[in-house]
Amino acid sequence: MILVFGENGQVATALKESLPEATFVGSKVANFLNPERVLETLNTHKPTVVINAAAYTQVDKAEDEKEAALTINATTPGAIAEWCKNNKALLVHYSTDYVFDGSGAKPWTESDQPDPVNYYGYSKWQGEKAILASHATAFIFRISWVYSPWGNNFKKTMLKLAKEREQLSVVNDQWGAPTSAEDVAQVTTTLVHQYLKNEPIPEPGIYHLRFEQYQTWYQFASNIIQAAKEAGESIKVQEIRPVTSAEFPTKAKRPANSRLGSNFPLDLWKMKASKAIKD
Ligand SMILES: NC(=O)c1ccc[n+]([C@@H]2O[C@H](COP(=O)([O-])OP(=O)(O)OC[C@H]3O[C@@H](n4cnc5c(N)ncnc54)[C@H](OP(=O)(O)O)[C@@H]3O)[C@@H](O)[C@H]2O)c1
Repeated sequence: MILVFGENGQVATALKESLPEATFVGSKVANFLNPERVLETLNTHKPTVVINAAAYTQVDKAEDEKEAALTINATTPGAIAEWCKNNKALLVHYSTDYVFDGSGAKPWTESDQPDPVNYYGYSKWQGEKAILASHATAFIFRISWVYSPWGNNFKKTMLKLAKEREQLSVVNDQWGAPTSAEDVAQVTTTLVHQYLKNEPIPEPGIYHLRFEQYQTWYQFASNIIQAAKEAGESIKVQEIRPVTSAEFPTKAKRPANSRLGSNFPLDLWKMKASKAIKD
């Protein structure tokens, strides 16, 4: 059976649509603050595939809740990976562009050295290392700027603000690629199906996933609002002002260059061939 940790998150919700045969376990049943409870869940279900879509994702709050962020993003994923290793289960886990320091302007490759600038990024990096150390058969997909029709994300926030305000200021010096949770779920679903059918899959390890053009948050916001206007939505905003990160201070520092260059062979399965971008 396929067990997904995460129930109401963006990627978990997208997986409910693409992988309806999976069992979804949320934080009420398996709280990642309690790794023992999570292991009990694994022992109860004895899955052959584990997908970890659960994470501590509040980037600013993580600066004040370091212990919780580290337990949820590293200790418990490490324990899950150990369980997968011992029980010969496949593990799919998600990580982030925030493991990198944001320097330069070149896309980061999978083999570049992480050096996070905030605690969320640090906790996710520790999670990657714990999973790799377990030697489980594991895919770690680093993704960036996730959006979806569900939960909290930049796209939903911009649309809401654009309907309420006449002017918006959006950061124009951080670069990355928006990632639809549905695309992440599609790749995960295809990988899991191939694995369960005993068909060839790529080498396990860390992969970046990218489906859309590199852009700044300002460009992303402009595109979102333009598309909403074209779709006939009632948009109040008249002016979108590009600003610098210095003008928009946040508790946790954000990397300026979050471009993820991907070596994941999406084309192997002719997957989203028109849309997928491979560097
Ligand atoms: N959002 C982004 O922009 C972004 C960017 C890069 C990478 N990522 C990574 O992508 C993955 C999926 O992110 P997402 O955007 O789908 O996250 P999300 O919408 O914030 O959802 C977080 C998920 O984690 C679960 N969770 C939180 N605290 C928990 C706890 N104590 N115990 C158990 N579960 C807990 C939630 O549980 P319930 O289902 O019970 O509510 C929810 O399913 C994560 O690994 C994240 O680090 C996200």
